Amino acid sequence: MTIRPLGLDPTHCLIGGVWRAPASGAGLPLHSPSDGAEICRIARGDHEDIDAAVRAAGSALTGPWGHATAAERGRVLFRIGQMVLEQVEELARLEAMDVGKPLTQARADVLALARYMEFYGGAADKLHGQTIPYLEGYTVYTLRQPHGVTGHIIPWNYPMQIIGRSVGAALAMGNACVLKPAEEACLTALAFGEIARRAGLPDGALNVVPGLGVEAGAALSGHGGVHHISFTGSVGVGKRIQQAAGQNVVPVTLELGGKSPQLVFADADIDAALPFLVNAGIQNAGQTCSASSRILVQRRVYDQVLNGMAARYAALRAGPALDDLDLGPLVSPRQKEIVEGFLAKGADLEIAAQGQIISDAPAGGAYVAPTLFADVPPDHILAREEIFGPVQVVIPFETEEEAIAIANGTDFGLVASVWTESGARQMRLARQLRAGQVFLNNYGAGGGVELPFGGTGLSGHGREKGFEALYGFSVLKTVAALHG
Ligand code: NAI
Ligand code: MG
Repeated sequence: MTIRPLGLDPTHCLIGGVWRAPASGAGLPLHSPSDGAEICRIARGDHEDIDAAVRAAGSALTGPWGHATAAERGRVLFRIGQMVLEQVEELARLEAMDVGKPLTQARADVLALARYMEFYGGAADKLHGQTIPYLEGYTVYTLRQPHGVTGHIIPWNYPMQIIGRSVGAALAMGNACVLKPAEEACLTALAFGEIARRAGLPDGALNVVPGLGVEAGAALSGHGGVHHISFTGSVGVGKRIQQAAGQNVVPVTLELGGKSPQLVFADADIDAALPFLVNAGIQNAGQTCSASSRILVQRRVYDQVLNGMAARYAALRAGPALDDLDLGPLVSPRQKEIVEGFLAKGADLEIAAQGQIISDAPAGGAYVAPTLFADVPPDHILAREEIFGPVQVVIPFETEEEAIAIANGTDFGLVASVWTESGARQMRLARQLRAGQVFLNNYGAGGGVELPFGGTGLSGHGREKGFEALYGFSVLKTVAALHG
């Protein structure tokens, strides 16, 4: 099987508006997580291609892209969004095949990508500077300007959504982007590059260079011609990227995942909570930065919640992405090994329930049965470290203070949710929980492109999504005129 996303040769990179083979001519195999078969080969871009892409982006800033008005930038983003919507099925199939996610979830990602283009298209001409009252004889105002060349190193779990939130906001503010998708899944990044080109995005405003993290990724994060880096991925690589960018004193936005808790109090509407509690752990087979992997339950309703979750787990089925079941495979045999390593470390724990891998799932696929652990001590490794697979731990608590201490007791701080009918408790906990997003009587709010997102602690720093991202993808300049 060889796949041609939107008719493209997937062994090519997009540099300066032209699809071309990497300078070395080298390629990498791309495998299907659902059955292990090779889907196609992709470019193994390296420092030479990254350098060419950074130069092309630099040229775009002095060419038509750099001279485009904010309204014109918005218009091209709208056109990209429209063309994404015209390709929903093609893009969803590419993402499902490449990432291994069920088709319905992949389709939701395409719609989110289109929404990001619409949101940032609409926002492009709405971020204003200020005028600041100052000394007699002065007029002072601020300008919001692009960083220049922005580097985007993205992971394999939600390529389209992460392209949408980071490249969308960067382009809206007038930056020129170099996008390095993950070696495990990059087909929709290539397709997006082609859609942007066809939509009339000027040459060089978006460059796409697939390749290995240690080669293309490291070259991009350490390149002296890059002015901002946004990264989503592992904590270890995030630290390396921050160090590399530090050498050039370049700002970074890091989104490094989490161990996000949901706190269920005895006064909560348990039936309303149950589908959220489970879905937040198994969506995209748990390979979600904002997955909720810890469920904290007040002792009085502990059995009720655990039994309700267990019943849902028992009904879950995992199979090939295109079968569109509850879960697909994990992205790769390596990711499956990581998750199975965690499961082995949970051998001392009680398994409350597991879902099924369908009996005719291909042997070469990276399937892991979704697993729910009961009565997990908060300091257990499965309750502290990001697993990035379909695994949730349920932890009992007695008091609100204890729940807060457990919730805030990991090194992460990305998302948290609170299930309670008490408005006062909602307000207290929203303030006290260590997280970039807190949800009250829901989880995730449907992903919301409008909602600022990012972490504290090991979850990273900086905010993407929503209007807030536009501040991160621009630089403030103060202009002071003395005119008497
Ligand atoms: P990773 O952090 O290695 O990969 C993410 C991106 O970084 C990819 O594009 C990769 O090519 C690039 N990269 C890797 N090494 C690099 C380097 N030295 N310099 C620059 N770029 C580099 O993540 P990986 O290995 O795919 O997954 C390992 C674990 O990371 C997962 O089990 C999960 O816990 C976490 N992760 C978290 C994600 C999130 O959404 N926050 C996404 C993916 C992984
Ligand atoms: Mg890695």
